[in-house]
Amino acid sequence: MANVFSRIGDWVNERAPNMMPAYRKHMTEYYAPKNFNLWYYFGSLAIVVLVNQIVTGIFLTMNYKPSAAEAFASVEYIMRDVEWGWLIRYMHSTGASLFFVVVLLHMFRGLLYGSYHKPRELVWLLGMLIFLVLMAEAFMGYVLPWGNMSFWGAKVIISLFGTVPVIGNTLVEWIMGDFLPADATLNRFFALHVIALPLVLLLLVVLHIAALHEVGSNNPDGVEIKKGPKGNRWDANKPADGIPFHPYYSVKDLFGVGFFLTIAAFIIFFAPTFGGWFLEHDNFIPANNLVTPTHIKPVWYFTPFYAILRMIPSFFGTALWGVLGMFGAIAVLFVLPWIDAGKVRSIRYRGTGYKVALGLFVVSFLSLGAVGAGVVAELIPEWFGASADATFLENTFGRVMTLIYFGYFVFLWVYTHLGMEKTKPVPDRVVYDHD
Ligand code: HEM
Repeated sequence: MANVFSRIGDWVNERAPNMMPAYRKHMTEYYAPKNFNLWYYFGSLAIVVLVNQIVTGIFLTMNYKPSAAEAFASVEYIMRDVEWGWLIRYMHSTGASLFFVVVLLHMFRGLLYGSYHKPRELVWLLGMLIFLVLMAEAFMGYVLPWGNMSFWGAKVIISLFGTVPVIGNTLVEWIMGDFLPADATLNRFFALHVIALPLVLLLLVVLHIAALHEVGSNNPDGVEIKKGPKGNRWDANKPADGIPFHPYYSVKDLFGVGFFLTIAAFIIFFAPTFGGWFLEHDNFIPANNLVTPTHIKPVWYFTPFYAILRMIPSFFGTALWGVLGMFGAIAVLFVLPWIDAGKVRSIRYRGTGYKVALGLFVVSFLSLGAVGAGVVAELIPEWFGASADATFLENTFGRVMTLIYFGYFVFLWVYTHLGMEKTKPVPDRVVYDHD
């Protein structure tokens, strides 16, 4: 048998001589720092979820009908009549939320260990493009079941483009292909969700990893292993602190995948709607342009940005500022590598100011998520009594959190560009750490 494999290998090598070297470059001879910790699982997990979305999506497409008259019923048909259809759908809907859990933690790792600093700015920028496309992909996917929240969510979000000066209304009509979200909207969203954006996502992920492999991975100590001592047991010229990605990290990542799939399975089998967080209750009602859901709000992963939109008041009779704030909250992350001029990458050796600021940034992001999801509005009467001015309290809280969110970037620029950060000494080599 081994002989057969080696002959097939020789046959392929003769015809595609660059294939094996490429495999070695990215797998067995990709030397990754030996001190990766828990935070480094999320990159490979993101790939697993991406594959899950594509595979389950293909099967959903086999029975889904992209028309306003049939979409809702076709999803019910998938849930009730198609063999294993309920599982495929719950894997896809749960997968969408888990995608954001994984990607947000993956991004946070970048903030913890300064992975966006030189020379990895391109890796970060490609990651941010992925994040943007992923949000568009999730938004359009959410419209497809044509539930009442699909309809009203689409209406609210597309109408935001109406705030663009001069061309706003034309733009909204052009995006919808109608005066309301309708058949034309659903058809184009289907095309974009099922083929166009997944292709872009796949391409961006390939570029993201290729860009990373050009410069090599960062690590929890934020020291460059390529600048450290040379020579490991596989190659005398390669970093002493690097180990081959395959089999060492491929096996480690496989353990992470097993753990992750166990959690995913529990959600899929026992709590697929996750209390209305992953699949909202209003989306089990067919789209109806005459009945507005009591609280129109997006799925949880959009709520921090949605809260920023809601918290910024209209000035000069236009809501454009809220829209700019919402997009600005994402745009500012693109330029993070140039905002943070810190000399030290990892939080382990950064100044106290950075640690406090990052902590506050996380608090503001989660709080904005709670505001956007309507949780804060629900808690105010419970905490402060029914007579409390709920709108005033929610707005004040949300606005303070919005200021902290943007304040993080302003602080970081001042703190690092004006040389105010007092860092700890960084070790010459990575510290082997099991945490
Ligand atoms: C579909 C989504 C994504 C996939 C499949 C993906 C995949 C990966 C993989 C496999 C790695 C190497 C393993 C690791 O370091 O964890 C990686 C590294 C990295 N990713 Fe992503 N990624 C995604 C989204 C993002 C996003 C949204 C960002 C941030 C804007 C980002 C920023 C980074 C950075 C900075 C690194 C290098 C980390 C380091 O070396 O410390 N990625 N990504």
